[in-house]
Amino acid sequence: MSSLSDSDDVEYNGSETLDPFQKVNVVEENTRREPISIELTYPLGADPTTGNITVRLQTDPSPGCGGIAWPAGEVLAKYLAGKGPDNLNGKAIVELGSGTGLVGLVAALLGARVYITDQLPLLPAMEKNTDLNGLQNRVNVVEYNWGGDIPDGLPDRIDYVLAADCVYFEPAFPLLVKTLCDLNGRGQPEFFFCYKKRRKADKRFFAQLKKYFTWQQVGDDPDFQVYSRDSISLFRLVFKGKGGV
Ligand SMILES: C[S@@+](CC[C@H](N)C(=O)[O-])C[C@H]1O[C@@H](n2cnc3c(N)ncnc32)[C@H](O)[C@@H]1O
Repeated sequence: MSSLSDSDDVEYNGSETLDPFQKVNVVEENTRREPISIELTYPLGADPTTGNITVRLQTDPSPGCGGIAWPAGEVLAKYLAGKGPDNLNGKAIVELGSGTGLVGLVAALLGARVYITDQLPLLPAMEKNTDLNGLQNRVNVVEYNWGGDIPDGLPDRIDYVLAADCVYFEPAFPLLVKTLCDLNGRGQPEFFFCYKKRRKADKRFFAQLKKYFTWQQVGDDPDFQVYSRDSISLFRLVFKGKGGV
């Protein structure tokens, strides 16, 4: 079980809005406030001769903090690309709090059937980014508010649930935990949960999560040393057993 150090805690400031200027040093382009188009390129698989994949995004902070790509999202996207297409090809994947759709779109480029989900204001941006990458046949954009019923249209059996940078607003913590538990009921998927530690309150999310899940740091990511310096962790969550929220 990974432990969360308190040494660099920042107090929760009571705001739902993350400041995009704070330590966003993975996707530097996103420090701008106006809509921009970006291309992110990741090595495909561990073999350098295999090439890269490129995802195109339009980012726009106006619909909310999810309108830009966040560092934990880029870590998870790069990890998935680095594992190569063999892992994800044909799999059913649900991403929570997708924002721009970065992580889910990379999974779709790797051959997965993907459901990128978020709250209503983000959906037009996610549709746009799906189109930009020509992934309409493989990506579904779905409204999913954490804590609510699993929306119609998500598959009965899910292979992977992905979430990046979704721990930042304390009132949403129990809602996100409930949603993770609910999705476990859809065929016990694997959960990849990429987290950037920002605030002391984050540990209350993990206190709630541990009633239902254990977690371990993903052990096969060659970038681990790099992103851990930015207080980013990539966890694999494992459901503890029966029960629910
Ligand atoms: C910090 S952004 C991360 C976006 C993206 N995963 C990334 O890494 O770039 C958090 C995302 O969670 C979504 N979110 C926050 N609260 C939510 C809720 N209650 N239900 C569904 N999505 C939520 C936000 O709309 C936003 O897109």
